[in-house]
Amino acid sequence: MRTKLIFGNWKMNKLTSEAREFALQSVEFKKYADEHGVQIGVAPTFTSLSVVKEVNPSLTVAAQNCHFEEKGAFTGEISIPMLLDLHIDWVIIGHSERRTYFGETNETCNKKIKALFAHDMTPIYCCGETLEQFENGLTKEVIKEQINVGLADLYKEHVKNMVIAYEPIWSIGTGKNASKEIAQDICSYIRDLVKEMYGDASETVRILYGGSVKPENVRAYLSEKDVDGALVGGASLKVDSFKQLIENIVD
Ligand code: PGA
Repeated sequence: MRTKLIFGNWKMNKLTSEAREFALQSVEFKKYADEHGVQIGVAPTFTSLSVVKEVNPSLTVAAQNCHFEEKGAFTGEISIPMLLDLHIDWVIIGHSERRTYFGETNETCNKKIKALFAHDMTPIYCCGETLEQFENGLTKEVIKEQINVGLADLYKEHVKNMVIAYEPIWSIGTGKNASKEIAQDICSYIRDLVKEMYGDASETVRILYGGSVKPENVRAYLSEKDVDGALVGGASLKVDSFKQLIENIVD
């Protein structure tokens, strides 16, 4: 049985004061989520990681990126030991915005995932196709490459506890969400790819759908067999909307 996971990706939003306020209010709905067997987490900007973790240590808190080297001449980057120093042990890897605007590749994602596993941390590895690739029927080809390269040469013991997020780029922040059938089809395809690479780790790896997930549609996605949760941008920013995401998926 895979625990449902609702993860908020705050992107480049929220001042530390706003992040603190959210974290304060999250104490209550985190308890509600626990009571209903739902894991919840947020990925604030680097500047707000410690305040969120300090105010609500029980919340799963992820960084939105990291570097694969431990230290050195990489101006502007944040290393894994620096995150661990703040008690942050989850990181989003390969979000499409990082791939599109900051040159992230499947190969650099793989290096980062290996570095995270070397420190017993949990990656949320994002994959997904562009609108053009979707329209040309290339989705599975693109996903296969992202999974095969991004998850190459790992230990099965690590893979079984990681999280993968399928986020079609054409659905991110556009309000044009993929149908639940598409989400299921691709999440199940990802599970099959993980099975080919790491056997029964595919049974416990959690696969999320992301892209215009809102309180109104979250339940439909999570009712699908291979969709274990959601990675949510816009609808995770406000406390009320985050709370509704949880309320709408519990029975
Ligand atoms: P969105 O973003 O929910 O605003 O579409 C999702 C994401 O980028 O993770």
